[in-house]
Amino acid sequence: MGISQERSLLPDLRWQLTTAVRPRRQVIGERASRLAILDEAERFIALCYAEHPGLGPVSERLRQVRAEIEALGTYRHTTAELTFAARVAWRNSSRCIGRLYWRSLRVRDRRDIRTSDEIAAEAVTHLREASRDGRIRPLITVFAPDAPGRPGPRILSQQLVSYAGYQSGDKVTGDPQSTVHTRLAQRLGWPGGNPQGRFDVLPLIVAEPGRAPAWYPLPADAVRQVPITHPNHDWFADLGLRWYAVPVISDMYLQAGGIRYPAAPFNGWYMCTEVGSRDLGDSGRYDQLPVIAERLGLAADNDLNLWKDRALTELNVAVLHSFRSAGVTITDHHTESARFIKHLETEERQGRNCPADWSWIVPPAAASATPVFHRYYENFDQTPNFYRHPRLSLAGHEPG
Ligand code: ARG
Repeated sequence: MGISQERSLLPDLRWQLTTAVRPRRQVIGERASRLAILDEAERFIALCYAEHPGLGPVSERLRQVRAEIEALGTYRHTTAELTFAARVAWRNSSRCIGRLYWRSLRVRDRRDIRTSDEIAAEAVTHLREASRDGRIRPLITVFAPDAPGRPGPRILSQQLVSYAGYQSGDKVTGDPQSTVHTRLAQRLGWPGGNPQGRFDVLPLIVAEPGRAPAWYPLPADAVRQVPITHPNHDWFADLGLRWYAVPVISDMYLQAGGIRYPAAPFNGWYMCTEVGSRDLGDSGRYDQLPVIAERLGLAADNDLNLWKDRALTELNVAVLHSFRSAGVTITDHHTESARFIKHLETEERQGRNCPADWSWIVPPAAASATPVFHRYYENFDQTPNFYRHPRLSLAGHEPG
């Protein structure tokens, strides 16, 4: 990659980011936009006050909100409303099997923060508070919302912690899911690992509107990681596998009551199949099944011996064992499936219909041995909710 290409990327990327977060009102007109916000706001406030009678009369609050939107084109959630918004966004996340604990989500209100430097510092605090001594707690940090003519900041990283994927030709060292972000970090000036390793923690990439993204290395002590070992196979440690303790999703925005919070990183704890079956097992990710099968003495040229299934199971056993021995919260897909069924029952008792997406809820291992497999769900989209930002793409900037 030559210097000139590197330079030319930044203004374009800046443009892309600014337009991506351009408030809708500029597109569909101020009046229409106010009506849209008002409509969403009214529904949200009504829901919030109906579920929390202690907050007082809804009519008074609705009057305030209407006046604020009329005057400013936006309004500010109270702390109670923001907390409710984040929790219900989780409750409405139809792909998440872990929703039984939606009420326990802790909300860090950082709506006054919009500079990259401060966001990076708060992200580090988030990591520390979420992982504590290994007892992971569900946590969200909410940064400044979009406002008319004033888009909020964005975190470009997919998760606060992720591993680099260095591409060279067809070969990727590290996580193939991170190649675009790794390239971006490098172009912004991140030197990368020296030597480049399979588990180099990527720097955090943050974008203030109208400015080029900035990268921030994460302090090692804020990034808890777990070496993967197996309870019965000593050779497993020799594979040199590891994973980070907390998945903090940072490329989704929180949409609630007509307000969009473009940077609102949140986390729960891992279910073993996320790491064992998918992150380390997928052929498009760390692709560890062939090497594990080999060590297990299974011929990988014969589908009839179910080498993939057996390797997957041992990898999941290893992930669970490793997190547990490290004292880091993790759950298995059987426990989590049973909890999800309980969640559905609780929701039903509350008179709520729980949206769920079968293809995401059913675990990628032992599917039919879990109760979530044997039923259908209704999937529908309702706010508050989390939505993924458009994928970061460096298309058109690739050499050759
Ligand atoms: N599946 C993603 C990963 O493997 C994390 C998604 C969120 N997971 C969670 N347990 N909250 O990194």
